[in-house]
Amino acid sequence: MELISALILVAFLVWADGSTLHPPSHRSLKKTYSPSSKGSLCNHMLRHLHNGARITVQMPPNIEGHWVSTSCEVRPGPEFLTRSYRFYPNNTFQAHQFYYEDNHCTKPTYTLVIHGRLRLRQTSWIVRGGTEADYQLHQVQTVLHTAAKAKELSQRLNRSCRGAMKGPWVPDVMYELWNEEGGYDCSRELNFTMHELQLLRVEKQYLHHNLDHLVEELFLGDIHTEPTQRLYYKPSSYQIPLQNAKNHDHSCIICRIIYRSDEFHPPILPPRADLTVGLYGQWVSQRCEVRPEVLFLTRHFVFYDNNHTWEGHYYHYSDPACKHPSFTIFAQGRYSRGLPSTRVMGGTEFVFKVNHMTVTPMDLSTTSLLNVFKGDECGVQGSWQVGVEQDVTVTNGCMALGIRLPHTEYELFRMEQDVHGQYLLYNGQRPSDGTSPDRPEKRASSYQMPLVQCSSSSQRHDRSREEDNVEEGLLNHNDASRWHGCCSKCITVLLITTLLQLCQS
Ligand SMILES: *[C@@H]1O[C@H](CO)[C@@H](O)[C@H](O)[C@H]1NC(C)=O
Ligand SMILES: *[C@@H]1O[C@H](CO)[C@@H](O)[C@H](O)[C@H]1NC(C)=O
Ligand SMILES: *[C@@H]1O[C@H](CO)[C@@H](O)[C@H](O)[C@H]1NC(C)=O
Ligand SMILES: *[C@@H]1O[C@H](CO)[C@@H](O)[C@H](O)[C@H]1NC(C)=O
Repeated sequence: MELISALILVAFLVWADGSTLHPPSHRSLKKTYSPSSKGSLCNHMLRHLHNGARITVQMPPNIEGHWVSTSCEVRPGPEFLTRSYRFYPNNTFQAHQFYYEDNHCTKPTYTLVIHGRLRLRQTSWIVRGGTEADYQLHQVQTVLHTAAKAKELSQRLNRSCRGAMKGPWVPDVMYELWNEEGGYDCSRELNFTMHELQLLRVEKQYLHHNLDHLVEELFLGDIHTEPTQRLYYKPSSYQIPLQNAKNHDHSCIICRIIYRSDEFHPPILPPRADLTVGLYGQWVSQRCEVRPEVLFLTRHFVFYDNNHTWEGHYYHYSDPACKHPSFTIFAQGRYSRGLPSTRVMGGTEFVFKVNHMTVTPMDLSTTSLLNVFKGDECGVQGSWQVGVEQDVTVTNGCMALGIRLPHTEYELFRMEQDVHGQYLLYNGQRPSDGTSPDRPEKRASSYQMPLVQCSSSSQRHDRSREEDNVEEGLLNHNDASRWHGCCSKCITVLLITTLLQLCQS
């Protein structure tokens, strides 16, 4: 047993080393690793992000070109849509938003065509790794695709936006909702805004070791989870990225369908069946995720469907590449399955309870922050040390991190299979105001970035934690000095902001 672990460890280190040169794909990993090391594959896939070798970020981003959705997207509401955005060399853009009646984007209802101008500004102080931008709209037009939608919109606009209506609207005709010359603004009725253009990030990634196979992704700002707040919200995280249509992942059939569409021929995605959500096995993040207000994290969930318990590992980082750990939370509890959502087509409701939690500060800033908190509200006061885990169940959670136990969350899940046949698990978008969905009314109507299944069994590989520590140590050693030298002050400031924000909620 010892020997096997040692071999696996050596394999890890060799792999970790090699991966900086030739990043293997997830698929090739699956072939290499035997089923007996399943648990470690999950840690491995997380580590794969940690070294960040696969992805380069362009700063300032060059967004010129044509960018398209890679799937049927879900916005709070819910709204089901696909996007096709073109950015021109003269700083103008033309954006198509195609809206649908169903969660697989097979039945288009209406399309918005948005013209405007975009100006990149400075790198973002709200979301590190992002770039801020200003935009100006020139024109917003719409084409309706069904008689029912035409009737509904005619009635709504006839009440709120008389100026635009010169008779009832009919399908397949282009109408103007807004233009620069003014007179009326009918886009308000749709709560329409392009604030997503205020925050941008471009990532480049070489797929399958292949320098000819470049995929570029454009991340735009997130949409507030409360529709009434949309018009006033400045993005502080991202939506699911668009791909550059010129060099997209060639297995993305959806990209091609959207690329060829226009407002009179909206994309109709291939029909699919809803997958039943099966919460079992282990699931990990596919990328370094951004939570509103400067939190970067990766997640690892284990679900035991035999007794309906779950475990979540939340690895928090201070940087957008998820290289520099700031703290780790381990949470444990029960869950129960609810009914298919009546509000969000394709979603299933769940209730999650957290009744056990540990916290591990991973850097000095977090450690000292935890130590300055008074009273017994987060573990033993003043006892926190870097890298040392503490059970905070007895102090009913950790007020410094804004987590009170026991805690209940009303969740929304959906499952999907990607083009490579891997299972993806989506859980609900967290409320944009920083609170948690602790009442049924606050249940999400859209989703976070999906997790990918890394093992269909819940057995954790016992040695994997130790291996984690060894490799984590090695990785940190290389990067930490450079990082702390240049920017430890801003990390501390950002961390304090984060923690304060969490406390307020
Ligand atoms: C900018 O470029 C696009 C595409 O070449 C063109 O359609 C548009 O008219 C130009 N706009 C301005 C203001 O020059
Ligand atoms: C708008 O409403 C008015 C009265 O409520 C009605 O007479 C008119 O026909 C409507 N126009 C359209 C375009 O539906
Ligand atoms: C727009 O927001 C208002 C609240 O401000 C809400 O009542 C309405 O349903 C929203 N409209 C759409 C199309 O989401
Ligand atoms: C649930 O089952 C798993 C394994 O099947 C076990 O490790 C865990 O302790 C169980 N949890 C509870 C609360 O019984």
